[in-house]
Amino acid sequence: MLIHIPNVLTPEEVRYFRDRLEGAEWADGRVTAGEQSAKAKLNLQIPQDSPECRELGEFVLRALGRNPTFNSAALPLRVYPPLFNRYDTGMHFDAHVDNAIRPIPGAGMRIRTDVSSTLFLTGPDEYDGGELVIQDTYGTQSIKLPAGDMVLYPSTSLHSVSRITRGSRWASFFWSQSMVRDDTKRRLLYEFDCSIIETRKALPDSHPAVLGLTSTYHNLLRQWAEL
Ligand code: NI
Repeated sequence: MLIHIPNVLTPEEVRYFRDRLEGAEWADGRVTAGEQSAKAKLNLQIPQDSPECRELGEFVLRALGRNPTFNSAALPLRVYPPLFNRYDTGMHFDAHVDNAIRPIPGAGMRIRTDVSSTLFLTGPDEYDGGELVIQDTYGTQSIKLPAGDMVLYPSTSLHSVSRITRGSRWASFFWSQSMVRDDTKRRLLYEFDCSIIETRKALPDSHPAVLGLTSTYHNLLRQWAEL
């Protein structure tokens, strides 16, 4: 399931990110790639231990915390500290699957990558090429979103970033370990939650239909969640 979440960051916040990233030190992106994907990857990243990466990463985590769509769709147990990348003209990342298990630097723990996120920091008019191409169960999807918007997709998906032919594409990206490992179950819970939200617009919260649906949602989550 692919989910587009608009306005995770406001335009002012995107501007602040861009200013901070302008002054950051950019390095070869292959440092966080696995052996196979390192051969397919040509981009730039800011080092994970740089002050910009830490500060902006925490900013992203706070924005996720107040985003109901992210929480409903990803059902996050743990979120990897967000990273920042950049593709200048000629850069690309060929088809690959991200590593299943990642150590969280300095935390002494690992996460299983269930849900991948890309938060766009440059708008579609600022570059040509650079689509995030995701092989979904429903076919191949080509994604290019406004700055401040984010896409979520299952980390099991083969994906690539097309070669940039003009300009530069900046983004934040990270993974979440979900309380619900299975993408089909996560999708059912997300659709269920969306239906509850719609029902609550039409009926009072005390209505038996609202009570019943809400109870069943939580009881399903109780069955499926692993903590
Ligand atoms: Ni990837």
